[in-house]
Amino acid sequence: MKLATTHIASALSLAIAMMVSGPALADNPIVIKFSHVVSDATPKGQGAIKFKELAEKNLPGKVEVQIFPNSQLFGDGKEMEAVLLGDVQIIAPSLSKFDRYNKQIQLFDLPFLFDDTAAVDRFQATAAGKGLLDSMKSKGIQGLAYWHNGMKQLSTNKDKLVRPEDVKGLKFRIQASDVLEAQFRQLGANPQKLAFSEVYQALQTGVVDGAENPWSNIYSQKFHEVQKTIAYTNHGVLDYMVVTNAKWWDGLPADIREGLTKAMEGATAHANGLAAQLNERDHQRIADANRARIQPLTKEDVAAWRTAMAPVWQKFEGAIGADLIKTAVAANQ
Ligand code: LMR
Repeated sequence: MKLATTHIASALSLAIAMMVSGPALADNPIVIKFSHVVSDATPKGQGAIKFKELAEKNLPGKVEVQIFPNSQLFGDGKEMEAVLLGDVQIIAPSLSKFDRYNKQIQLFDLPFLFDDTAAVDRFQATAAGKGLLDSMKSKGIQGLAYWHNGMKQLSTNKDKLVRPEDVKGLKFRIQASDVLEAQFRQLGANPQKLAFSEVYQALQTGVVDGAENPWSNIYSQKFHEVQKTIAYTNHGVLDYMVVTNAKWWDGLPADIREGLTKAMEGATAHANGLAAQLNERDHQRIADANRARIQPLTKEDVAAWRTAMAPVWQKFEGAIGADLIKTAVAANQ
């Protein structure tokens, strides 16, 4: 009896020693959960898939990347908290979803700030743009990269959508952003913050009349099937910051962090190289589907939207910083 007890005790301590000290751990890859809210067929979806491919190639047997698209694991109300709690390791929220952590990132939501995603790209490559990636470390968030989606278009369930007066009194779904809220209030419309996963139903049931999205999100979520008109406004940008838990990232073994950094660089080049093409493809698919009508706008129409939304800039200049806005404007040239 005594002998059996001693055997059990030593087997147990061996098992514990192996769990704590390593050989067993070395056989287990580090699991990296990458959670996001859009479909695989979008620029972000494709970027996540490329990241998995490159990370597992660079670090064979050492990491396993699990992707959870379409708000399967966490919707956008919860994903940031999930990263901070360590429930997932990587997310890529739109830049509209960071204002609780750094008000300067509100910059990206200013209407008609960037002419196109090439200008967004140039701004992000400046020292000020890169600095934003490291700006939330004290809050536990480390930015790893910027990924593009595309320029946003306005859509409604009305036939007429040409000038700002056409949206007066309408309800619009917005992302959780105070700038976007101000933008729609400026137009005399009623903004409602809703998670991305709730948008289709909200549009379908008339909880809201309209929304603003890039073509890839409209097509992959079938928003064009529950809207009547999409105006080609290009009035703002939808772009992402890929982020991770700063403590987790800093605590990784150096070779793993290096392999993941390289994988992220490759995935970023891939996603950003594809973004314009996927948005153009989905723009065409929406036109071909012949459900929502795409309303082209004249220069004068666009100027009217620009003028109507312009006061939003002054409202947020203090929080964002005039210099940062200047640097972003300069990226248009
Ligand atoms: C949205 O909520 O509209 C977007 O941020 C969704 C996304 O991730 O593209």
